[in-house]
Amino acid sequence: MATPHNQAETGEIAESILLPGDPLRAKFIAENFLEDVEEFNSVRNMLGFTGNYQGKRVSVMGTGMGCPSIGIYSYELIHFYGVKNLIRVGSCGSVQEHVRVGDIVMAMGASTDGGYAHQYKLPGTYSATASYELLARAVQSASEHGFSHVEGNILSSDLFYTETPEWKEWAKMGILSIEMESYALYCNANRAGVRALGIFTVSDSIVTGESLPAKERQVGFTNMMQVALETAVS
Ligand code: ADE
Repeated sequence: MATPHNQAETGEIAESILLPGDPLRAKFIAENFLEDVEEFNSVRNMLGFTGNYQGKRVSVMGTGMGCPSIGIYSYELIHFYGVKNLIRVGSCGSVQEHVRVGDIVMAMGASTDGGYAHQYKLPGTYSATASYELLARAVQSASEHGFSHVEGNILSSDLFYTETPEWKEWAKMGILSIEMESYALYCNANRAGVRALGIFTVSDSIVTGESLPAKERQVGFTNMMQVALETAVS
């Protein structure tokens, strides 16, 4: 059944989906990592595809940037299309010296400076956590391949540009890196009792100002994709 943002028919989306922010990234993943690919969505150019990886059905779809955008798409995937495993793949900016550009970060938990969880009217502060099952699989995959990876808490920020260095306060709390979507994804998944995980390559260091050169960005992306796909189908 179509939604205002997704034209897919029931059954066209696999139970496991990879979620990059950029819809053209979704197209690239489908074309380069999956076989027998079919496009299921192009509403607002938020491209979505289903194909096979190692003989198992997997989907991939863009989410846009920020919690409101991934909040909409992931809610619909879970509640209208029956998706059970949602794996965000993206980039992040490190706020710790030991988390280096090119590393893989897996978000055990996500904190936020935004208001996504206000909708639940909780009598406190919600800690949004990943699925341990997906995290354990992803850690195993990265370790087997010898990819440099780190697990911990990340910040899903509503702000890309800030006038003050707020990241320093989050770094004091042990936050590893900053991105903009996982908190909403984890809230939606946990509320619905399905599984979610965010896996990132560190594209830049907010501590040192360093950023990943284009060639290494591609290698980092390919490594992350291998981990995400193995997690999705295992
Ligand atoms: N994604 C990659 N780098 C980022 C940063 N510095 N802040 C937020 N999201 C990011």
